[in-house]
Amino acid sequence: MSAAIEIAGLRVAYEADVEILRGVSLSGPANTMTAIIGPNGAGKSTLLKGVAGVAPVTGGEIHLGDKRIDRLSTAELVQYGVSFVPQEASVFGQMTVAENIRLGGWTRRREKAWLEKRIEICGNLFASIRPHLDRYAGDLSGGQQKLVEIARGLVAEPQLLLLDEPTAGLSPIMVKEVYTELARLKDMRSVTVLLVEQNVREALAVADHVYVLATGRNDTDGTASEVASRLDEIVRNWMLREGSGVAS
Ligand SMILES: Nc1ncnc2c1ncn2[C@@H]1O[C@H](COP(=O)(O)OP(=O)(O)OP(=O)(O)O)[C@@H](O)[C@H]1O
Ligand SMILES: [Mg+2]
Repeated sequence: MSAAIEIAGLRVAYEADVEILRGVSLSGPANTMTAIIGPNGAGKSTLLKGVAGVAPVTGGEIHLGDKRIDRLSTAELVQYGVSFVPQEASVFGQMTVAENIRLGGWTRRREKAWLEKRIEICGNLFASIRPHLDRYAGDLSGGQQKLVEIARGLVAEPQLLLLDEPTAGLSPIMVKEVYTELARLKDMRSVTVLLVEQNVREALAVADHVYVLATGRNDTDGTASEVASRLDEIVRNWMLREGSGVAS
């Protein structure tokens, strides 16, 4: 069962006295896809890392469904159904696609029959990797490898999927391929997704709701179509912001 995520006033500091997130709030209703956009260094990855328990949360609260999760360890978060697909590539190139996907079931390995079914479902989820299950993952395109990571992240049937820039470094054709599959995933309405993206147009086309971050704080948010209609103005504001990380 997928659940809503509620983030309230989240603060994250990698080092004492240097807060990178300075009170970010966000609501992601169950089974929706929420995109998080913003200039380089805005704190988008830090937000996902804070939720995933891999960056130190220093204030605020995170609830997933009825449960407060900001005090849980990474292991507990995984157990509770938080799945994080970081920006960095993480497929095992010398293993087959099917073997890579199977690795996502580790936390639920005792539920054998159920797990086999999940592995089959996730192996068949994305049309562009379905024909390649027996190939070495390293032989696939960058876009297909990212889809393998996402399929792996879904095997344990998470409540929340965190995707950090799934199309970073991909060619335009591969970006399109990944987004075709993400649109399909969204239409299935079976998991709550927080998606961080630099490819703003693609993210807006697939998301339900969009949050814009700037310098560790909420800038603005709205439905994807609202944000799309104000995008020029929003991006112009990024340029004007001090320390936005955007070259002037
Ligand atoms: N492990 C870390 N230790 C200290 N500072 C960090 C660490 N990771 C990120 N930062 C700093 O936190 C700020 C926000 O970084 P973050 O990676 O969250 O931004 P982002 O919005 O994801 O940017 P990008 O679009 O470039 O991915 C940056 O100033 C960055 O230098
Ligand atoms: Mg980032």
